[in-house]
Amino acid sequence: MSISLHKILSLLPSQGKMVFLGECLDENISLYKQRGLQTQFLDFKEFLYFADNSISVEVFSIQMTEQENSLENLDILIQKIFQSGLPGGLLMGKVQGSPEYCKEFFLSLESYSKKREGRLNYFYRESEDNLSFFLARFPSKSKKSIPLSINQALIWGELILEKLEDKRLESELLLEYTLKTDKTSLFCHRERLLSKDEESKFLDALKKREERYPLSYITEHRGFMGLDFFVSPSVLIPRPETELLVEYLMENFPEKSFHGLDICTGSGCIPLSILHHMPLATFSGSDISPEACEVAAKNAAQLGLQSRFHLFQGDLFAPFPKPSHFDFITSNPPYISQESYSQLMPEVKFEPSLALIAGDGLDFYRRILDESHHYLAPGGFLLMEMGQGQRVSIEKCAPQHWTTQDVIVDYGGIDRIIVFRYSP
Ligand SMILES: C[S@@+](CC[C@H](N)C(=O)[O-])C[C@H]1O[C@@H](n2cnc3c(N)ncnc32)[C@H](O)[C@@H]1O
Repeated sequence: MSISLHKILSLLPSQGKMVFLGECLDENISLYKQRGLQTQFLDFKEFLYFADNSISVEVFSIQMTEQENSLENLDILIQKIFQSGLPGGLLMGKVQGSPEYCKEFFLSLESYSKKREGRLNYFYRESEDNLSFFLARFPSKSKKSIPLSINQALIWGELILEKLEDKRLESELLLEYTLKTDKTSLFCHRERLLSKDEESKFLDALKKREERYPLSYITEHRGFMGLDFFVSPSVLIPRPETELLVEYLMENFPEKSFHGLDICTGSGCIPLSILHHMPLATFSGSDISPEACEVAAKNAAQLGLQSRFHLFQGDLFAPFPKPSHFDFITSNPPYISQESYSQLMPEVKFEPSLALIAGDGLDFYRRILDESHHYLAPGGFLLMEMGQGQRVSIEKCAPQHWTTQDVIVDYGGIDRIIVFRYSP
């Protein structure tokens, strides 16, 4: 079993009754007792046919073995278990038997809990060979529900997000978001209990994340260049590799009062972080999506940079007079080919396709390289982010008078940023 006993013990309520149903395979009973739980043992027949219907328990532990328990009365059994478990109580157990036997048990459990108004709010299962272990929390909407502590919520978060690489960290971030607090306060108050509303908000967030909805869309913000950006599903979530473009510009052209243009601005992360760090600069930006423009405007306002950021909605350069004389053009345009879109991580599918897909991957580079010279001052620079393996093809798209000034490689060794100079 990969879940630690320590975690199971932490999820147990600190008092109340723990009922063991079926042949008791659990070697940790003395530990449960030490935690202050009163224990009671029942066999299946007794529970199904004779047990008092009003039995109510904080922890229900069930041991189903194919040899001992047929699945004949499964629906009644599950109904009785639900009637017995107190809201917010713990349902745990082991199911031992053939894969078909285990499958049927869990399907019935799931379909029964779905029918109920407040389903099993949390559910965790792990299986090896013919044994499945599971943990669940009884529906907890009722006012009398057993509350969840911060420590327990974090453990549940980690269990539900078990398929994610950073499950612990993500669980913490979602709880910080839910409780509108920070890491320090989370860890200084580990025994603080969540209110009903907080618990259901946390659970909603976990469910979304479990379905691979991006963390930043749930929390509505993303850090970029040390700044906090508001993000919504209308914009691409700013990526760390895009910071390389901003860093390059700041390192190579420090302290200059320049006027830049950011094409395909999305959340506004590129121009706004440059403006924040370079107080003499000004920027214009454009995006074809009105919703993305609203996000960029909100970020400009939050960062107090509206007076130096001029935002336009439109197709690439269309909003700007021709000729214009910007010192720089920056852009992280859509660069995923239709073909490779299907192979992206599940999270990316929640981001706007408008921000990602670009025909064969090079459509935007062709257009930007064809048109930029109308908007750049002589000797001006064009800095663009690019996708893996696109460098050579992009350089081939560059018309006369354009030379590659620099290529910046990202932390994964991929050519990521290309800097062109326009010298007519
Ligand atoms: C890859 S995202 C980049 C967003 C942001 N600059 C960043 O680095 O996080 C590309 C952006 O281009 C915008 N876009 C797509 N087609 C466009 C067009 N024809 N003209 C202007 N913007 C466009 C999308 O709405 C999206 O916000």
